[in-house]
Amino acid sequence: MQQLSILDLLQSDPSPNEVIINGWVRAFRSNRFIALNDGSTINNIQCVIDFENFDEEILKKITVGAALNIAGILVESKGQGQSVEIQVSKVTILGEADPEEVKLTILSPKRHSLEKLREQAHLRIRTNTFSAIMRTRSKLSFAVHEYFQKNGFNYLHSPIITGSDAEGAGEMFRVTTLDPKNPPLDEEGNVDYKKDFFEKETNLTVSGQLEGETYAMGLGKIYTFGPTFRAENSNTSRHLAEFWMIEPEMAFCDLDGNMDLAEDFIKYVVDYALKNCKDDLAFLENRLLQEEKGKPQIERSEMALQEKLQFITENNFKRVSYTEAIDILKNCKPNKKKKFKYIIEEWGADLQSEHERYLVEKHFKCPVILFDYPANIKAFYMRLNDDGKTVRAMDVLFPGIGEIAGGSQREERYDILRQKMAELNIDEEELDWYLDLRKYGTAVHSGFGLGFERMVQFVTGMGNIRDVIPYPRFPGSASF
Ligand code: 4AD
Ligand code: MG
Repeated sequence: MQQLSILDLLQSDPSPNEVIINGWVRAFRSNRFIALNDGSTINNIQCVIDFENFDEEILKKITVGAALNIAGILVESKGQGQSVEIQVSKVTILGEADPEEVKLTILSPKRHSLEKLREQAHLRIRTNTFSAIMRTRSKLSFAVHEYFQKNGFNYLHSPIITGSDAEGAGEMFRVTTLDPKNPPLDEEGNVDYKKDFFEKETNLTVSGQLEGETYAMGLGKIYTFGPTFRAENSNTSRHLAEFWMIEPEMAFCDLDGNMDLAEDFIKYVVDYALKNCKDDLAFLENRLLQEEKGKPQIERSEMALQEKLQFITENNFKRVSYTEAIDILKNCKPNKKKKFKYIIEEWGADLQSEHERYLVEKHFKCPVILFDYPANIKAFYMRLNDDGKTVRAMDVLFPGIGEIAGGSQREERYDILRQKMAELNIDEEELDWYLDLRKYGTAVHSGFGLGFERMVQFVTGMGNIRDVIPYPRFPGSASF
């Protein structure tokens, strides 16, 4: 006898052979119909019990949330909504779930707010919404690897513990084994990190880019896909303190090639989800429709979820220089009427999410890649243009999300990079290995970083990034 998943069973033909299935009870109606789910699909299998011939004691324990092992025959379903169901011959209770206690959790059948579900992050995977999101997240991860592997990229495991601040933004979590109550001090009374585990200051990585660059300059094309940590105090629906980033890096590739890669990659991954997550996306699309019913017309999406994803795969991203974008923003209605929180006065202004979203959602109405930003609002490693004031940076902006990816062509010229680091007071000794790369066979190279959770958010239509990662970490919260 073969043990099948509910996904397998729902795709099988009725057969007189006995099947065995494990799962959790989603609902039990009329002492007769068990809706069982095992996580393999959003769909439940209906298990029909002939209750007159069943032990009372067992019937009592078939409650929402309980884990069951069921044996029976797969028959054609007489009911609506499924083609097959199980005519049950035996139920074994694997794990009970006391109905009174279930009432206090999110497993009880009533609808719960997403905030409430976050408080029980260990149980929310038993809900349709979260299982749909997490199955989609898993498929998307696979699509990321598939895309790069098909295109000749090597998967690089960049280090989690590093000594450098790749983004120069100072938003790092310290890694230390020193006793916080009694750290060793140096002669000046500062903490003496020479006595620490690594004999220097270390932190959790904010980006694998710098290490990625060194490997691209040997392997040609690499990508990283791993956890990234930022101690930025951003309590927004798009920021996490621990998130997963995908960072491709390519030798002998300029910014145009980088933009081509970003667009092609994103389209591939979205298309993969459309083809491989149909049932989950249909569920999430409907969830979003219900959620938006409570909102004023103007805030509702113009397109349904899957239509929006299709739109991404079928249309070109609009490529716009920072300078053009500033002209559009300076003259747009919300800027003139002071509806933006940050008014765009002149060239050089850093763009906020409200500006990015205006460009994408109102002006161009499609994904936008902004490029050639002012040097002084971007990181030190970006390649300086001949105008001396802009760098070969790019940001990919998405509807509802804002920045989904950011990258650049890298400064490959030793002297110019050194000069830039000096201007920004970046310790040359700390990054001598990064500078070295420019001394021995330097070449044009480029890459970008895409925030995986922002991608999952976009594909699943979820409004808050905390709902697309199993255990979200954000300021004030690291439960579970
Ligand atoms: O724009 P960022 O900071 O770029 C870098 O880290 C570069 N080193 C990437 C590279 O060129 N290899 O981050 C890249 C992306 C952002 O576009 C965003 O999608 C995501 O990472 N991101 C975050 N996602 C969730 N929570 C946060 N706190 C994030 N910070 C950045
Ligand atoms: Mg960025």
